[in-house]
Amino acid sequence: MEPKRLISTLLLLLLITMGSSSLPTNPTQRVHVPCKRLVFYFHDIIYNGHNFKNATSTIVGAPSWANKTILANQNHFGDLVIFDDPITLDNNLHSPPVGRAQGFYFYDKKEIFTSWLSFSFVFNSTHHKGTLNFAGADPLMNKTRDISVIGGTGEFFMTRGVATLSTDAFEGEVYFRLRVDINLFECW
Ligand SMILES: *[C@@H]1O[C@H](CO)[C@@H](O)[C@H](O)[C@H]1NC(C)=O
Ligand SMILES: *[C@@H]1O[C@H](CO)[C@@H](O)[C@H](O)[C@H]1NC(C)=O
Ligand SMILES: *[C@@H]1O[C@H](CO)[C@@H](O)[C@H](O)[C@H]1NC(C)=O
Ligand SMILES: *[C@@H]1O[C@H](CO)[C@@H](O)[C@H](O)[C@H]1NC(C)=O
Repeated sequence: MEPKRLISTLLLLLLITMGSSSLPTNPTQRVHVPCKRLVFYFHDIIYNGHNFKNATSTIVGAPSWANKTILANQNHFGDLVIFDDPITLDNNLHSPPVGRAQGFYFYDKKEIFTSWLSFSFVFNSTHHKGTLNFAGADPLMNKTRDISVIGGTGEFFMTRGVATLSTDAFEGEVYFRLRVDINLFECW
């Protein structure tokens, strides 16, 4: 390439680079506004050997030093729990359910109390029809924990967002209630 040509090519490249760096590329400066906000509660009654009638969840896998009736010591590390929990609009277990939270969680750290969640909200009521699918780490000692809303069907077709979980009640190791603040950022 002759020198004059080379210089003009370099100048052109420089201009292109300068142009693109003036675009707002810093993601922390972006303002995220949800297209939909929803709040639900769900209630988990774990089977403990005495509550078969009321239990909504059960240990299905346990480490070899534990059993499937009682949550393992060492922060329940290695326990895998399947659940089919009622979802309510307020924090009362006996309110009419608007759907079911169905999925599993497992405890995945010996040193601290933490779990990993994968579940769906399955709605079939006058309030909502469709599903929302969730996944993510749930560090239980955090007052609030963010997990991903990875998709949806029906009323929630192709949605995505973030759900903020907080433990609204915790009674022994038999009952807990989670408050779920859902912010959807993609709505169709
Ligand atoms: C089941 O739930 C009912 C209603 O909340 C309660 O009265 C009863 O004590 C519970 N039974 C067991 C075995 O937990
Ligand atoms: C399970 O483990 C607990 C605590 O270690 C013990 O009290 C209980 O008897 C065990 N249950 C069964 C069915 O082995
Ligand atoms: C939802 O409820 C309606 C009315 O009760 C019923 O006909 C339908 O089969 C239900 N759908 C699912 C997926 O459970
Ligand atoms: C848990 O809390 C810590 C410290 O407040 C925070 O940095 C972290 O993002 C939280 N984790 C989740 C999954 O919300």
